Amino acid sequence: MILVTGGAGFIGSNYINHFCSVSDEEVINLDKLTYAGNPLNLEHLFDSKQYKFIQGDIADKDLVLNILSKYKPRAIINFAAESHVDRSIKGPRDFILTNILGTYELLEASKHHWQNLEDNLKNEFRFLHISTDEVYGSLKSSDPGFSETNQYKPNSPYSASKASSDHLVRAYNKTYGFPVITTNCSNNYGPFQFPEKLIPLVINNILQNKEIPVYGNGLQIRDWLYVIDHCKAINCVLEKGKIGEIYNIGGKNEKKNIEVILEICSWVDINYNHSNQFFTEKLITYVKDRPGHDSRYAIDNSKIAKELNWNPKETFESGIEKTIKWYVDNQDWVLAVMNGEYKEWIKNQYSNKK
Ligand code: NAD
Ligand code: DAU
Repeated sequence: MILVTGGAGFIGSNYINHFCSVSDEEVINLDKLTYAGNPLNLEHLFDSKQYKFIQGDIADKDLVLNILSKYKPRAIINFAAESHVDRSIKGPRDFILTNILGTYELLEASKHHWQNLEDNLKNEFRFLHISTDEVYGSLKSSDPGFSETNQYKPNSPYSASKASSDHLVRAYNKTYGFPVITTNCSNNYGPFQFPEKLIPLVINNILQNKEIPVYGNGLQIRDWLYVIDHCKAINCVLEKGKIGEIYNIGGKNEKKNIEVILEICSWVDINYNHSNQFFTEKLITYVKDRPGHDSRYAIDNSKIAKELNWNPKETFESGIEKTIKWYVDNQDWVLAVMNGEYKEWIKNQYSNKK
């Protein structure tokens, strides 16, 4: 059995889906269900004996201790986090509470549980911490991609909170011998991503003929990783990764934001806009830049490629096609997650940026 935290969010729910499609092992999903968590992402598993959902906070040490002593998972995969940079700029507090204090409480409970395991279970146990390339800061155009030895230079409250959690995870290994592994991945995209992030926001705004806000000059670069490639990488790290190590995971798909937006517009025009009902490129609107906006992220994948034999399979063209089709076919899901809180947030975002 494995325990996944934050498994009702974007990457966590894709991970549980993927895991259950390649394994019969049981999965427990502990998720607080913030605005970003949607248990219905895993609705098809509700009747499965393989899957159990528990609503709760990773910062609730007693709850985590109870779950660990009752179910005795062989591994914990920690996806739970506040994950949106713009929200961290508006209000860092939730990021500090979940990403730093929450990770601390989860580590404390897990370490306590692990220390009391029998030797064979103790040796098998893993704590896999899912982190981000944003902890390394921003690259210049001529810099090589981030490697695992890059200095941490976080620039947003979000990335600072993730950097803090990474340091805690590292310290629990160095100080207590707790069996952790950390992964730092680049920008994911794919099904079930909350429509506040660039790619689903662009797709949905096109489908609803709303403006596409481009921050600053739109020339910032991200390294796009299809979420299922990421899930496969996590399985590789879980099974073959070395305790105490860090593995960077990237998509080998560096693109400027404006290129991503234009590719989505062009795909819609060619495949889905035969009566010109969507205004696509006409919706592009340049708005005020994000404060402290990192200009470029890119990942050097060579460690995970060489040591664990993992490489991304999806090209940006194949991944974006699957993603757009998913959002076109799942507009009900989009409408369901866009509740009052989200609509209010988006309204404030736009009015502050013009
Ligand atoms: P998300 O915001 O879509 O989902 C986060 C999930 O965590 C939600 O289901 C939410 O309800 C849950 N959660 C939040 N606080 C919690 C708490 N205190 N206790 C329990 N559950 C809680 O995020 P995501 O995009 O799926 O990201 C997952 C992880 O991957 C995060 O740690 C993020 O930092 C990291 N990451 C994401 C990306 C990306 O591109 N999305 C890239 C690199 C790293
Ligand atoms: O690099 C990994 C990180 O990727 C993760 O750790 C974060 O959890 C995840 O949210 C993502 O962070 P970004 O800030 O890179 O993603 P976002 O989708 O918010 O923005 C991508 C780029 O697009 C960024 O340069 C800002 C820009 N952007 C974003 C939005 C939402 C726009 O130009 N307009 C927008 O409306």
